[in-house]
Amino acid sequence: MPFTPEAVRQSFPALNQTVNNEPVYFFDGPGGSQVPSAVLEKMTAYLGHFNSNLGGAFFSSAETVSVVEQARASAQALLGAPSADNIVFGANMTSLTFQLSRAISRDWQAGDEIIVTALDHYSNVSSWQQAAEDKGVIVHQVRVNEADCTLDYEHLFSLLSNKTRLVAVTYASNTTGSLVGVKRIIDAAHLMGAQVYVDAVHYAPHALVDVQALGCDFLACSAYKFFGPHVGIAYVAPQWLQTLRPYKVEPATEQGPGRFETGTQSFEALAGLVAAVEYLAQWGDKGASLRQRLIQSYAQYQQHEAVLSQHFLYCLSQYSNIKLYGIDEPSRISERTPTFAIRIDGVTPGDVASHLGRLNMCVWNGHFYALGLCKQLGVLEEGGVIRIGLMHYNTVEEIDQLFEALGPFLQR
Ligand SMILES: Cc1ncc(COP(=O)(O)O)c(C=O)c1O
Repeated sequence: MPFTPEAVRQSFPALNQTVNNEPVYFFDGPGGSQVPSAVLEKMTAYLGHFNSNLGGAFFSSAETVSVVEQARASAQALLGAPSADNIVFGANMTSLTFQLSRAISRDWQAGDEIIVTALDHYSNVSSWQQAAEDKGVIVHQVRVNEADCTLDYEHLFSLLSNKTRLVAVTYASNTTGSLVGVKRIIDAAHLMGAQVYVDAVHYAPHALVDVQALGCDFLACSAYKFFGPHVGIAYVAPQWLQTLRPYKVEPATEQGPGRFETGTQSFEALAGLVAAVEYLAQWGDKGASLRQRLIQSYAQYQQHEAVLSQHFLYCLSQYSNIKLYGIDEPSRISERTPTFAIRIDGVTPGDVASHLGRLNMCVWNGHFYALGLCKQLGVLEEGGVIRIGLMHYNTVEEIDQLFEALGPFLQR
């Protein structure tokens, strides 16, 4: 059976509810996606029957060990990691990044340099800026091309040198949807002996990560952005798994990803993660490997998301007073996710979001922690932007409803 949004929508309780007897519209995916029943059921089953900890000589502890192993295998398939041992779990992407940044920066020296970008969510900027401050390391920030909100690669490459220790870069902007050619950046950084830390939080719900093809050193994402619960996932490349010295409670684990994990994990979230990856893979050939099924399924999501983007851009082009920040050419849709940052002349993003909220239409307004971008675009002090984030469960009809709802503010 091929993927259709209608087919998946049935499995999301949130999409089928009414609020005040009216339907609901979720255009807030980049802030957090909705969750299918299979994920909810796995989480309830774990907490209801097996809630325990690791290492006990009884059934529920054995089940907990098995949940963690399954979750690592699922995340390995999702990210294309060489081994489940390369997968580290944590509370969320931000906490994992702060934690990893402490270990990664241990041997930085005063005068070393690092590169962050203005396109990034500040979880992948502040962590590094603060580590750099502790060590007297110089921080460069790469600009954005304002015309289409893509990363200014020339600027980035001009900043790279043999003093660069790390490049921290997003795979996709959570605000404008711009994709970043991180492979080019990784190759260039490695030539200079620098490591690369990739933020794939916004990328992962829309395109399949392949850490081995990228050759990145570290990559982080967050399951609540791809139809799962709140849990952060980091990939640590094999060469850094044993050589980095993470900050740990004694007696510290000597081997494997546990070296990077602190405290007790959210096992119910890991149970949900397994179901979320299985949900994502459901459109692949039965009997194929999980990775293969993910490849096949993502191809279908991308086809549908391209249709959504085309339709959104078409609707947008009908009005003269909407400004889009990001790629607007239909021919360049493969360079973006279906996440759109807009402002409407004569009305603040906050007022637009409140108007839509009253109609059960969920959109976010503000800066979304993309501070560098919003500062460069000059919108930070002006209420930021309205973000309309489409997911594979959204439909063309919902986009039409959205533009109808925006009607009072729009001019042809
Ligand atoms: C692109 C991007 N990176 C990082 C984060 C932070 O993720 P988390 O909430 O898991 O810390 C977000 C959250 O919105 C994001 O959109």
